[in-house]
Amino acid sequence: MTHSPDHHDIHHPFPHGLIRRLRRLRFGPNWLRTGGVAALLVLVAMLRGGWRSLVVLVAAGAATLLYALRIEPARPRLERRDLFFPNLPPGLEGLRIGHLSDLHIGHPFASENTRWAVAQMLHEQPDLLVITGDLVSFAENIADLPDLLRPLHAPLGVFAVPGNHDRWEGLEAIIEILKPLGIEFLMNTQRRLVWRGTELTLAGVDDAWNGHMDLAAALADTPEGSFRILLCHLPDMLEAAAARGVDLQLAGHTHGGHVYLPWLGSLVLPRHGWRYSIGHAQYAHTQIYVSRGLGGLPLRLGCPPEATMLTLRCQPFTSSRTT
Ligand SMILES: [Fe+2]
Repeated sequence: MTHSPDHHDIHHPFPHGLIRRLRRLRFGPNWLRTGGVAALLVLVAMLRGGWRSLVVLVAAGAATLLYALRIEPARPRLERRDLFFPNLPPGLEGLRIGHLSDLHIGHPFASENTRWAVAQMLHEQPDLLVITGDLVSFAENIADLPDLLRPLHAPLGVFAVPGNHDRWEGLEAIIEILKPLGIEFLMNTQRRLVWRGTELTLAGVDDAWNGHMDLAAALADTPEGSFRILLCHLPDMLEAAAARGVDLQLAGHTHGGHVYLPWLGSLVLPRHGWRYSIGHAQYAHTQIYVSRGLGGLPLRLGCPPEATMLTLRCQPFTSSRTT
């Protein structure tokens, strides 16, 4: 089992550790800007409306919190996205990838959401299945993984990369327990896959936060013109991936910020997830899809857990950033 100093913060929070944990987070700038205005409006409403306004505001706040804590974390959604690439080999048109991320087994709703996601993948029958890290939140839940993930299968295989939590809780044990299921971890390495006669490169990297990410090794000797998909837990590695000629990065880590509202964006984001926090984005000629994940802290508003079905398409992409 691998432990880092940060690991102790998780289980033994104390003031110094708490401060260090808070420094790893960044609150959305629009949330900070509007926080003061919202507080002022609440104060004005209370002054003008008296105790009735206070009761209404408290009731609305309590209902929203109840929804965010009990309802939305248990309502995962299947997202379907077509991703368009001008350089996609015609033979890969229509390749379907099932993407799961941030299962966080051990947290409330995580096992239930993962069972739901596995059932979705069995129904959708993607050509390729990938898991982009944070499979567990606690070491004692590693033993739960085989029963949850055993049904997963896909013609091109089921591949995974670790997240920071997997490194903290015992990556070697996770890799070993999933090996008999045919789930292969790509640790700074790649596989050449052939779909309907056309080759593509699927690369994966170790976690960059607590492990040793080596993009050069992962993408070494990739044939010229081979379409390159990279599994990398941390989305903010996108620029580095673009420099290595990656066409598509699949990531997780941020959980979308747990609270995501129009204009306000993501409420709070972890380190290495500050720039590309949710959904689809693009840097230079490299695209990324960041999953909101299936588990984690059971607090979600406007940001439900997700399983994703991605379809590769041949077409010029637009330069706009979408989420
Ligand atoms: Fe996570």
